[in-house]
Amino acid sequence: MIEKSALQGKRILLGVTGSIAAYKAADLVRRLKDHGADVRVMMSHGGTQFITPLTMQTVSGHQVSLNFFDADEEAAMGHIKLARWAEWILIAPATADCLAKLAHGLADDLISTVCLASEAPLMVAPAMNNKMWSHQATQQNCQLLRQRGVEFIGPESGDQACGEQGEGRLIAVDNLLKHLLTKSQPGPLNGIKVVVTAGPTHEAIDPVRFIANRSSGKMGYALAQAAAEAGADVTLISGPVAIHPPSGVHCIQVESAQQMYEAVMQQISPSSVFIGCAAVADYRPAQAAQSKIKKTDKDDLSLQLQLNPDIITAVANAKQRPAMMVGFAAETDNLPYYAKQKLQQKRLDVIAANQVGEGLGFGQDNNALEIFWQNGHKSLTNAPKLEIARELITFITERYHAKDSI
Ligand code: PMT
Repeated sequence: MIEKSALQGKRILLGVTGSIAAYKAADLVRRLKDHGADVRVMMSHGGTQFITPLTMQTVSGHQVSLNFFDADEEAAMGHIKLARWAEWILIAPATADCLAKLAHGLADDLISTVCLASEAPLMVAPAMNNKMWSHQATQQNCQLLRQRGVEFIGPESGDQACGEQGEGRLIAVDNLLKHLLTKSQPGPLNGIKVVVTAGPTHEAIDPVRFIANRSSGKMGYALAQAAAEAGADVTLISGPVAIHPPSGVHCIQVESAQQMYEAVMQQISPSSVFIGCAAVADYRPAQAAQSKIKKTDKDDLSLQLQLNPDIITAVANAKQRPAMMVGFAAETDNLPYYAKQKLQQKRLDVIAANQVGEGLGFGQDNNALEIFWQNGHKSLTNAPKLEIARELITFITERYHAKDSI
């Protein structure tokens, strides 16, 4: 037994589905047990074709759950009891079929039913042929699952049992274990809710046209990832973007500023951190036309605009005002002046300002930030957005805890 492991006493419910990689599940259970975790195993019918329940029972030290139609098994530990017992659910290996069932909420076997019935964080370690993994159907299922906060561990690339090469191999047991160990270390934002807004908003002109901006969501998504890495419970509220939400982050997709406002107001709480990184449209068409606006012979067309709610200001004035409020400022000119003005006007604790314009800020992979707070200033020099996000999250964490101790 490995002493003082972060996995000591962790109740892990392992789902084993029908992939050739299922034979590695026995080693995984043994290694988890070496770290002091309490592991129970549930297997799909396919899983039992590759490794026997007796093997899994022997290594885990518990009866293996196979079927919820079996009265004896249900008496031992029923599917609802299992769902409640688990602190984490890990499906390794997870087949394409299993991911499809989870994505679409099917409950036609024990594993899919337990996952639906449980509130425990769900992690999946996919394993399948590389073509199956890259198939649009599988990728869309994965996207749905990621949006719901399911964490993907792997797959890895390399030689496959079918003789092909590519991405789809079950992550090596060593790497999977390392991942679980890192995840179970308490991070500096452990147990703290962080709500991040990201991306642009789309403001409808008519059913086919909208007003938008060049935000790609990269900065906000990087912040969500960095906050999750720091152990926070992250909710990402995102406008329409073409990138995937980071693993383990709960993502709410919206289109317009009004929808973003409503989602944000539902998510904030007094102990949370709020980071407004979205490029929210200040104005929307006063009246979105019900039918496509037709071209006429006239040289001009006027669009009446109406002010959108200012989300950050509404959050700052809410009864549920978060413990820490961070805004962004996108400026083309006079950055320090406008950033400090927004810090005051929007009643923020911190504002992160970026110079925007051609090749800067919007849509780029890199960013640089000037951070302002009451009587203070700090620069984060040009770096990939994820690096900048990690530095900003470290800074926010320090200020959050400093505030806490006042
Ligand atoms: O998404 P990327 O391509 O990665 O680009 C990142 C970014 C440049 C969009 C990002 O770093 C950024 O600067 N986001 C804020 C953009 C913005 O709208 O700034 P602003 O100065 O117009 O607004 C100030 C603050 O008020 C922002 O926190 C904004 O989210 C908030 N706001 C604005 C309008 C509104 N109606 N409600 C708001 O809450």
